[in-house]
Amino acid sequence: MEGGLKLKNPVAVNQELEGEVFYPSPEVVKEARIKDWKAVDELAVRDLEGFWAKEAEELDWYRKWDKVLDDSQKPFFKWFTGAKTNIIHNCLDRYQKTARQNKLALIWVGEPGDVRTYSYFGLNREVNQFANVLKAMGVKKGDRVTIYMPRIPEIVIAMLASAKIGAVHSVVYGGFSVDALQGRIDDSESRVVITADGGWMNGKVVELKKTVDEAVKRCPTVETVIVVKRTRQDVKMEAGRDYWYSDLMKLPIANGKCQTEVMDAEDPLYILYTSGTTGKPKAVVHVHGGYMVGIYSTLKNVFDLQDQDRWWCAADPGWVTGHSYIVYGPLLAGATSFMYEGAPTYPYPNRWWSLVEKYGISVLYTAPTAIRGLMRFGESWPNRHDLSSLRLLGSVGEPINPEAWKWYYRVIGKDKCPVMDTWWQTETGMFMVTPTPVVPLKPGSATRPYFGIEAEVVDEQGNPTPDDQEGYLVLTRPWPAMLRTIYKDPDRYVRQYWSKYPGKYLTGDSAKRDKDGYFWIIGRTDDVIKVSGYRLGTAEVESALVSHPAVAEAAAIGLPHEIKGQAIHAYCILRAGHSPSPELAEELRQHVGTHMGPIARPEQITFVDKLPKTRSGKIMRRVLKARAQGLPEGDVTTLEE
Ligand code: WT7
Repeated sequence: MEGGLKLKNPVAVNQELEGEVFYPSPEVVKEARIKDWKAVDELAVRDLEGFWAKEAEELDWYRKWDKVLDDSQKPFFKWFTGAKTNIIHNCLDRYQKTARQNKLALIWVGEPGDVRTYSYFGLNREVNQFANVLKAMGVKKGDRVTIYMPRIPEIVIAMLASAKIGAVHSVVYGGFSVDALQGRIDDSESRVVITADGGWMNGKVVELKKTVDEAVKRCPTVETVIVVKRTRQDVKMEAGRDYWYSDLMKLPIANGKCQTEVMDAEDPLYILYTSGTTGKPKAVVHVHGGYMVGIYSTLKNVFDLQDQDRWWCAADPGWVTGHSYIVYGPLLAGATSFMYEGAPTYPYPNRWWSLVEKYGISVLYTAPTAIRGLMRFGESWPNRHDLSSLRLLGSVGEPINPEAWKWYYRVIGKDKCPVMDTWWQTETGMFMVTPTPVVPLKPGSATRPYFGIEAEVVDEQGNPTPDDQEGYLVLTRPWPAMLRTIYKDPDRYVRQYWSKYPGKYLTGDSAKRDKDGYFWIIGRTDDVIKVSGYRLGTAEVESALVSHPAVAEAAAIGLPHEIKGQAIHAYCILRAGHSPSPELAEELRQHVGTHMGPIARPEQITFVDKLPKTRSGKIMRRVLKARAQGLPEGDVTTLEE
């Protein structure tokens, strides 16, 4: 048989695994940096600090650490305490005046077809200049800077420049709406917002500046808005507040080198908002030192990046995937990274495959929703292209259906590229449950915890569940890229992640572990819905609905959707004087879209007279979900009806 299917591999495994298993081919094993992953894993488990110290030694530090892990104030873990560094020193500074300065750091293609490339030298120059600009705008170490931009090189430059001067960036995904942006600017108290006139998506302009104008009206902290010219349509520039990026970069103040700020390993690098169980999105805090070590180690070992690779992480820099594995990780690994601005199917469903061919992409990392979306156009689109440059594939964001996995493996990877299904979260910062190229794969399973990571599946009481039995996924040892806290809300950090099972980190996911020790992620156990891999809180959708004058009460749930994974279905009780109609349903869908962003627009609105609630008044979304799918309602003893 060609490629990897059911090929025995004596190097990596000495036992027969259960179920459908794809073993790595001898070529994959030959190429792999780590051949005996079990040995590395055992070592890391035995000597956690030793493992991470070794990974950290591969990076540069202004001053080395006194202690690898300080767990004296659990669950506020600290890593590499006493160390001085700046992630930018390792992403850019250390390569200057070495051969690497001439290597491509970034190859970027715009949706209309324009191309820009940056060498490590060139990227460093731009980052220095923009860092000078930010400093001139009064941005200081510790200040938060909001970035709301399309997928263009300047978003990378803005993030790196902010980190360089010790500021804390808060990137808000460019698909979010006015309210979402405003809430995040407000909470972070940013004085500077960086945006663009617009971005290209599906042949149309996404008008980011307009959204910023609306949001900033209600944000008293904002003094300066920096605008990148991308789409060149007319935008309103407010004198004394709004400045063109290109004008600022031409000023004498932008010239020359900017000193990289010396940071403590535990100083914050960025905050990133994500949806949780309660209404308001919360910001997780990531730091310079441990985060840098975690993403460097995982990217290097899981995707085995080599000098000749061309790495494409097809996420948006606005999500953690982009932060860790578009912006910082590839630069730490000294890799060449590819970024594309637009939609995968614009102008035709072969856009991605033509990019893989044209730019010789060797590792492609994307989400199940994208794979399913492209799969639906059939094999002829990818088959028209030479995809032989690919050697590894990756998946992230939600469980990948075995069907989609196999299509990806066969049609895109031509039966020779192992699929790295990486389970992780905004909070974890780095891959947590993931194979490396030599680990035998089971389609639909993210396989095993990364080196030094320990995961468990436990029942309500915290006892490990038997093999193949569903339970709560928890992490039992700290890791360097872990979130340090929730921004401005340390109590919530403790409550949400460390209280259900003291000493164990609660992921919010349910999972099973099979007898081979492989993890199968099932989905969220909390009130989080994953739409096309995007994380949305039911409470946020419900608040948006209730903010409409016709709605008295609302409940949102996620139901299975062929492409999106899950789609939002909302149930609304109307206020007196309003009656159900298809027009009102449409109006409510749009209303949520305007409030939260198009991704949150419910698939379907159902008008109801009452909602299933517990006697204490909590909406039982679980019951709604079961009813919608014609499934048994489970334990309804607490139901009020
Ligand atoms: C949630 C975290 C981490 C990058 C993007 C998402 C789900 C993520 C997988 C995977 C099954 C996955 C989980 C997790 N998830 N990766 N490989 N298999 N589920 O980050 O928005 O913080 O979402 O995404 O439910 O808890 P996020």
